[in-house]
Amino acid sequence: MKLKKYAYIETFGCQMNERDSEIIGQLLGRADYLPTRDLDQADLVVVNTCSIRAKAEQKVYSLLGRLKKYKQKKPSLIVTVAGCVAQQEGEKLPARMPQVDIVVGTQNIYQLPGLVREVEENKGPRVAIDLSKSFVIPRHLPSPLPDSPVFSPRERLFKKFVTIMQGCNNFCTYCVVPFTRGREVSRDPADILAEVRVLVDNGIREITLLGQNVNSYGLDKGNEHIRFPELLAAVAGTKGLKRLRFTTSNPKDLSDELIRCFIEINILCPHFHLPVQSGANRILKKMNRKYTIETYLERVAALRRARPDLALTTDIIVGFPGETDADFEATMELLEKVRYHGAFSFKYSDRPGARSAGFDNKVDEEVKGERLARLQARQNEISQEVNRRYVGSRMEVMIEGPGKGHRGQWSGRTGTNQIVNFPAPDQLPAPGEIRMVQIEEACLHSLRGKLL
Ligand code: 5AD
Ligand code: SF4
Repeated sequence: MKLKKYAYIETFGCQMNERDSEIIGQLLGRADYLPTRDLDQADLVVVNTCSIRAKAEQKVYSLLGRLKKYKQKKPSLIVTVAGCVAQQEGEKLPARMPQVDIVVGTQNIYQLPGLVREVEENKGPRVAIDLSKSFVIPRHLPSPLPDSPVFSPRERLFKKFVTIMQGCNNFCTYCVVPFTRGREVSRDPADILAEVRVLVDNGIREITLLGQNVNSYGLDKGNEHIRFPELLAAVAGTKGLKRLRFTTSNPKDLSDELIRCFIEINILCPHFHLPVQSGANRILKKMNRKYTIETYLERVAALRRARPDLALTTDIIVGFPGETDADFEATMELLEKVRYHGAFSFKYSDRPGARSAGFDNKVDEEVKGERLARLQARQNEISQEVNRRYVGSRMEVMIEGPGKGHRGQWSGRTGTNQIVNFPAPDQLPAPGEIRMVQIEEACLHSLRGKLL
């Protein structure tokens, strides 16, 4: 009888990585590995890594450090590093960390079962990190279902990510992504639609289309290829799909056609994540963002004209090299002008390969810390004020399931992507169901209400 083998997958970083981890899980499932959340039980560990900021990378190394001890206890344990750190470090990883058996880059995850077999046959460490311009996202992905609740959390049983493109051509000066994910590669629309169809046929009700810069979908394939707004409309045509989202967009490519989608596609959720990074034109220029604050604000106004209920969120970096007090104040002013529903904000960190690592006038860690604290404190106030506007209104939520906090609480998500907590009713709704809630209270990162 064949012994059961178990795989443990840990994911760091973005939704793109989450989706890749699902694919890795499915591939390993075919190679007879069962999922586990118990490291002691694991025969294979995959660390799917992120290197976007120094802190993200540190978390990866601390897990790899812990895995050294597991490997000492169980020398047959196969340790795999996937994702952006794998791509960036390649051969250096097993050379520096003998506990690492496999390094698999962002375009190479499909080779993982073969690499695992080679390591099982004691062929020594394996490294596959080719990045190719002519990479084609494989057509026949393993069946996305049935899903293991271990590889994917509960809510993933009714909502899923679908990758539409990989890589990035923008070269923002602070960013590793062009080096870790390569140039933009758009996926065949027929493959995307087929994947969405399979998902919806299996009970998925919400889809988020993923790409580092979805606005340039199709541009790498020439003039005849369909563009992102047309892809959105095509996906929205999938019968049975209730909600559609996408991420991420670069403000420089935000077209009127895409803005019109918010009027014309009724299942497109009224939430837009539009990373601004800085409120100062001087800094935007050094970041190579290719837009000004004036054009950014004009796009925000156009979005809000099209869809007055749109929720806007953003990413902001503080302490980019050369950022002066006046530049930072411009970012603070931007918060007042836009009044985002929420903002993810980070201290700038140097990244290997990124051009800004070589820039002069690095900002002191202490100054970065002060700026970040001030920005987050003010954004928290704004988020709470924005949330308060919903009190007294009725909103549609997609039911997620039991809430994370108090017992007896359930939660759902609005089209604007806000979490609404409510007392569990006697007759429990099904996760994925769309229901109305009466909003009664605004918290910092969520709303509270009652199910109608
Ligand atoms: N330092 C700090 N933040 C960064 N980001 C990307 N690169 C860096 C860096 N070197 C942030 C940006 C991006 C988000 C995903 O991470 O705000 O939008
Ligand atoms: Fe992290 Fe960026 Fe890689 Fe996603 S693409 S895993 S955010 S470095």
